[in-house]
Order: sequence, then C-alpha cells, then structure tokens
Amino acid sequence: MSYIVLSHYQSKVLLDARCQGLPSVSVSPDLNRTTVKARLDEEGVRFPAGQFVTWSDLERIGKSETKCFVVEDGSVSEVQTFSETTNWARALMPTPSAPTMLVSGVPMHRIKGTDPYRDTLKKIKTLAPVTGRVLDTATGLGYTAIEAARTADEVITIEIDPASLEIAQLNPWSVELFDNPKISQIVGDAYDEVDAFDDGSFSRIIHDPPMFSLAGDLYAGEFYAQLYRILRHKGRLFHYIGDLSSKSGQGVMRGVIRRLGDAGFSRVVRRPEAFGVLAYK
Ligand SMILES: C[S@@+](CC[C@H](N)C(=O)[O-])C[C@H]1O[C@@H](n2cnc3c(N)ncnc32)[C@H](O)[C@@H]1O
Repeated sequence: MSYIVLSHYQSKVLLDARCQGLPSVSVSPDLNRTTVKARLDEEGVRFPAGQFVTWSDLERIGKSETKCFVVEDGSVSEVQTFSETTNWARALMPTPSAPTMLVSGVPMHRIKGTDPYRDTLKKIKTLAPVTGRVLDTATGLGYTAIEAARTADEVITIEIDPASLEIAQLNPWSVELFDNPKISQIVGDAYDEVDAFDDGSFSRIIHDPPMFSLAGDLYAGEFYAQLYRILRHKGRLFHYIGDLSSKSGQGVMRGVIRRLGDAGFSRVVRRPEAFGVLAYK
C-alpha cells in the first residue's frame, strides 16, 4: 500500500515514544493488522515504506476519537465522505480491533462489550458450516462477506451506496473484499437485485441490514419471500436485528419471525448472542 491509516491509538503510541526520547517504536500502519518499526525525528515520524507524518498532524489525529486518517504523499486526510445516494455521512471509526463505519453518527457494527470483528464472527458462526454459494445482502465494510469467503465456494455481496465502498476501499481490514476472487460485488438495492437470482441458488444467506427505521423494505414480507425462493432446500438465513433483549429489538424480532414464517421458512430460532435470528428452509 502506498498509504497508511492511523487513528488516535497509533498517535498515542508515537507521541508517548517521543516523550520518552525513543529513536524508533513499533506501531501499526494499518489499524492493528500489522506492526512496523517507525523512526522518530525532530519533525515527525517516518514509516519504513516512506510515509512521513509531522508531530502537529499526529497531535491532530490524537484529538479525534471517532475518525481514522489516511497518510499519503505527505498529506493527512480523514477517512470520511458524504453520500449523494443516501444523504448519509460516512466515516471510518477506530476501535482497539477492526474499525467500524459511522453512518450519520451511528456505528455499523456492535462496539459495546465487543468489537466489529467478534461481532462478525458471531453472525457467521450461526450459519456454520458456511459452504457453497453465499449471498450477503448488505456489504458495508465487507466483514461478513470476507469471513464467509473463508469457507464458502463463492460469495455475492450487495451494497446500495457507493460511498460505503469508497470508505471500505481505504480500510485495511476490508482489503479482501476487493482482492478475494471468491467475492463478487453488486452495487444496487438488494430489494430489487434478489429478483435476478435463480430459485434455490444459495446455500446460505447473511442478511445484515441497517436498522428497521432506516431500511423498512429489507424487513418486508415480499423481500423475505424472495430470500426464501433463492435459498436452496435445507439452506439457512441469518437475519441481524439488534439487541433482542431490548424493548425495540423484541418488537422488531416478533414482526421478523412472523413474516419469515409467512414467507415459508419452516423454523425461525432466536440467536441472541449474534443479535439476530436464524431461519431454516
Ligand atoms: C449493517 S451494514 C452491513 C455490515 C456488513 N455486513 C459488514 O460486515 O461490514 C448495512 C449496509 O447495508 C447497506 N444498505 C442499506 N440499504 C440497502 C439496500 N437496500 N440494498 C443493499 N445494501 C443496503 C448500507 O449502506 C450499509 O452499508
């Protein structure tokens, strides 16, 4: 990569090292995926691949708890964008593990008491073994698609908002979304795109939509009927809902379970550890 991505976590490591008068320090250039040895001097920090960040930029990065910053060709910019498609502001937000995306200020993954990657693994585990052809209805940062592709033959993932993919393109944790040949991306509305798939053509479906109030179509009976149609006999669907023990989560869950049953699913079971339900065809 010709660029590196830093957050307040790495800025703290570097500023602390400066206070201690160290000539070099181990730090991550890619939001905790790998570590390199960076050299400290009077003006700032030099990374082994050539990137340079000034102390004043590192102080600026250190002041932002909700943003990540790309360092490229001597310039430092926030990983954020405004979507003309959805009118949502999107920004990459650091955590001690993989980052999440803030969508109009709301984190796209669970971060309280867990982290975005553990959250992803919980969702995928409900569908184990994840084999055959998999549909991921909502790409986001691509974490569910990437994890499913570890064992599946093929993963098709759909994202309505090109701005989401722009952010993912700068996220070191989303690299495999773009370079794993098992993953195919569709930019479009999942509600419409599912019409084009053949009956029984997926063995697993991961449905990880935005919250009900933001994407009602993706919780509609007609959409569930399409998911049922394209799932193969004995296939399984994981549907993320949110905290099933919360009042709002319970309300949404009851409607989801009823409509999945109406769509034809033979059994729908609660999976509270993954904040969702599992439906069997
Ligand atoms: C909760 S996130 C998905 C997170 C993702 N599974 C991951 O692992 O990073 C939901 C995503 O669905 C996208 N989305 C919203 N409505 C959609 C639609 N109708 N069709 C496809 N994607 C949609 C949003 O833009 C957002 O990026």
